[in-house]
Amino acid sequence: MVVNPKILVVDDEPRFCHSMKTLLSSRDYDVKTCFNGSDALQFLTDETFDLVLLDVFMEDMDGFQVIENKISRKIDTPVIIMTGRSSSDTAVKALRMGAIDYLKKPFETREMFSSVKNILNQRALEKKRKAAESQSAERRKLESLGRMAGSIAHHFNNQLSAVMGNLEIALDDVPVDAGYRKNLFQAMMAAHKATSVSRQMLLYLGHTPGRNRPTDLSASCRKTLALFQAAVPKGMILTVDFPDSGPVIHADPIQIQQVLTHLITNAWESISDTRGGIALSIKAVSHEDIPSRRVPIDWQPRHIAHACLEVSDTGCGIPAGDIEKLFDPFFTTKFMGRGLGLSVVMGIVKAHGGCITMDSQPGSGSVFRIYLPVM
Ligand SMILES: Nc1ncnc2c1ncn2[C@@H]1O[C@H](COP(=O)(O)OP(=O)(O)OP(=O)(O)O)[C@@H](O)[C@H]1O
Ligand SMILES: [Mg+2]
Repeated sequence: MVVNPKILVVDDEPRFCHSMKTLLSSRDYDVKTCFNGSDALQFLTDETFDLVLLDVFMEDMDGFQVIENKISRKIDTPVIIMTGRSSSDTAVKALRMGAIDYLKKPFETREMFSSVKNILNQRALEKKRKAAESQSAERRKLESLGRMAGSIAHHFNNQLSAVMGNLEIALDDVPVDAGYRKNLFQAMMAAHKATSVSRQMLLYLGHTPGRNRPTDLSASCRKTLALFQAAVPKGMILTVDFPDSGPVIHADPIQIQQVLTHLITNAWESISDTRGGIALSIKAVSHEDIPSRRVPIDWQPRHIAHACLEVSDTGCGIPAGDIEKLFDPFFTTKFMGRGLGLSVVMGIVKAHGGCITMDSQPGSGSVFRIYLPVM
């Protein structure tokens, strides 16, 4: 959607305001007018404008006071000052106070349009520069957080290996009927659980090298499915639409099976009673069929053909407010959840050069689609 730049014209002469509005609107600018300084400040506080054309001499508050107030309210809209009393002092004072340009009345329409266009172009460039800067600052922050989380997870893994090794030795020497054997056993279980969290963190961060090889996606997913099919409760319908074979992707089959396991588990857990449906499908799609709302948000296809693994459910759906956080490590809405399933899915998909899309209707269900480049 194209948004027309918004301009505020402030002048105590209504006829002048009207003709400025007619002129500027003819160039598709979105124009508002007002006839005194206090209304101008009110407009600037309530709405965001891209530019103000401001008269200097007005009764209640002159243009300089409007600029001063605007600055103290931290409103950064650029101002072109317009003055009828064409003294250079006024123009210089206005520029010193922060106006970006000035027009001496009566001015030529061409001159006014050129000044407006220049300033709006500069503002658009400045906005783009700021957006790019904040994006790259955000990326740097995420990278350094990722590095920190990675080294913590590695450190924990090493320490936990030592804990488990020592517990194993101790358990070997403990008589079978010793009362404290149970305590050692529980400590061992807790260490195991903690190791699995560290491992999942490393997967999310892409620190776990996959053993990638040509992998038949349908065959790999069928293996995972066999585990679920046996456990699906009566009343829950699991439908599967996989081709006999393919598409073939360059992937670690174990990691792909982990992706499917996490997605099916979530789908299953979203269906509160045992009535509902989970549908799985695999097909080959072109890069043009991949929706633009996807994660990672900066993902761009580098191949034409992609495999699409879809997991949909008729479960509780996802509230709009949760969607941004879904793939964050430790985000969970479940009492016993760890919030690691989707972040692991994300880490694996990223490491395989793919992306994820998600559609959800609270109350009606969700669809997760994983796109992976076909070999
Ligand atoms: N199919 C789904 N339907 C509804 N909500 C979902 C679905 N998939 C994920 N979610 C939401 O996303 C959250 C994060 O999912 P994720 O798999 O990362 O963690 P979890 O399932 O809570 O815990 P676990 O680490 O055991 O997987 C869930 O708590 C849930 O709120
Ligand atoms: Mg989960």
